[in-house]
Amino acid sequence: MSGFKRVLIILASVATVLALAVGGGALWLYSGAKVSTVGRGDFRNELAVPPLAESTVTADGTRVFDLRMQAGETEFQDGQKTPTWGFNGSYLGPTLRAERGEKVQVRVRNTLAEASNVHWHGMHLPATMDGGPQRMIAPGTTWSPSWKITQPAATLWYHPHPMGETEDHVQRGLAGMFILDDTASRALALPDTYGVNDLPVIVQDTKFDGARFVHAHGLTRTVGFLGDRTMVNGTLDPYKEVGDERVRLRLLNASTARTYDFGFDDSREFSLIGTDGGLLEKAAATDRIQLSPGERAEIVVRVRPGERTVLRSYPLDIGQDFYNQRFNGGDDTFDILELRAKKQLRRSPALPTALGKPEVPDGSHAVRGRSFDLALPGINGHKMNMGRVDETVTRGTTEIWTIRNNNGMPHNFHIHGLQFTVLSVNGREPRPALRGAKDTVFLPSGTTVKLAMRFDGPADPDTPYMYHCHLLSHEDQGMMGQFVVVEKGRKAGRPAATHTHQGH
Ligand code: C2O
Ligand code: CU
Ligand code: CU
Repeated sequence: MSGFKRVLIILASVATVLALAVGGGALWLYSGAKVSTVGRGDFRNELAVPPLAESTVTADGTRVFDLRMQAGETEFQDGQKTPTWGFNGSYLGPTLRAERGEKVQVRVRNTLAEASNVHWHGMHLPATMDGGPQRMIAPGTTWSPSWKITQPAATLWYHPHPMGETEDHVQRGLAGMFILDDTASRALALPDTYGVNDLPVIVQDTKFDGARFVHAHGLTRTVGFLGDRTMVNGTLDPYKEVGDERVRLRLLNASTARTYDFGFDDSREFSLIGTDGGLLEKAAATDRIQLSPGERAEIVVRVRPGERTVLRSYPLDIGQDFYNQRFNGGDDTFDILELRAKKQLRRSPALPTALGKPEVPDGSHAVRGRSFDLALPGINGHKMNMGRVDETVTRGTTEIWTIRNNNGMPHNFHIHGLQFTVLSVNGREPRPALRGAKDTVFLPSGTTVKLAMRFDGPADPDTPYMYHCHLLSHEDQGMMGQFVVVEKGRKAGRPAATHTHQGH
């Protein structure tokens, strides 16, 4: 054989080996990317229910809560102590609860070794109380925002919002629920005994290496962190015994990147009664409810005496391309929570036919429109800059915001300080799950949504509110912008960049 031929043969076999390696690697990545915990959990742990936060009422009627951000250890798995953070405990935080019309104050003390902060997701409140990335809480200090509850009954939540580190701080365990009530919601015959037939269901995906959390992003995951199992309220393999015919679940997707499509293992119908901003006008019967990171839904499910039923998350059916379907979690399936019905169940009244009145605009009085193009690592081609105000809006006016994602990966869109109406999704009327008051909306690639929102918060030209992708690593990378609310004809001021960045 000539030397030349020999070289050719060697080259050819090197190419074949490479092709096989690449192909095999891709196949290995592809099949390894799909996760399912269906039928694998044993539901051996009783679901933890976050305690209702204690509060005191001052002479002027302000309800005062205390939250303490702290480091600790949590035993998610037998005998394994995982280093975690929490509010008033080692993981997650208590459920805050207040009534429309009430004044509240939350004294947030940071006992961590680094700066963090707290944002009240979904709350209508002045920008100075909102807890955006400017409002950091240095270690050893306390921040005490106060505001009046001016919005309808809803399931909201709270979590840190430090520039570039939100995913990390939430994953370590800093998150909690904030439930609002009002006289109308109290009068409704809905399951409302907290922890009994009205359950907070904080869903997070997670991954362990022994006792420790693994928070690295997989190579192929453009959405950020995706775990290989889920927990509810910090409980792995959770079950909950229920003693009522009808059970209300307040679902919160507190995961940092994963979108769920919740249903039950027998695909039974349930009633969707509320979304991010509160109760729907009327219940919608469905067998699935999709929630992207940050979104909430209140559902009521019927159980039969003695049965067990599992809340499951199904593969997403949203027409994603094959890459996103597989590598960004769309094919995954999780058994989330087992409900165990007692042999004897208390009768529950039928659901009321009329529920809430979402207080969101229909867009007919909009004075202007704006467009936002979501493309990593920014919005409208800009990365977040705390010294720049991106949009200036006039207090008391309604606008229509058009949000577009053609970025080849899923995003969502969240705005602070208000709730909006989803007017359309790709030009069509939104499905029932998007017809209430929303503050976060999912945008798979190839989606355009039109939102109507009214800026009722107090004018403050110097303190911005945020809007951003709530896939937290995208937010951290800069998919976030700032807007200020001003009185008519006024200009934006200059945001004070009081950000104190500290590593860990
Ligand atoms: Cu829940 Cu700006 O976030
Ligand atoms: Cu928010
Ligand atoms: Cu995103």
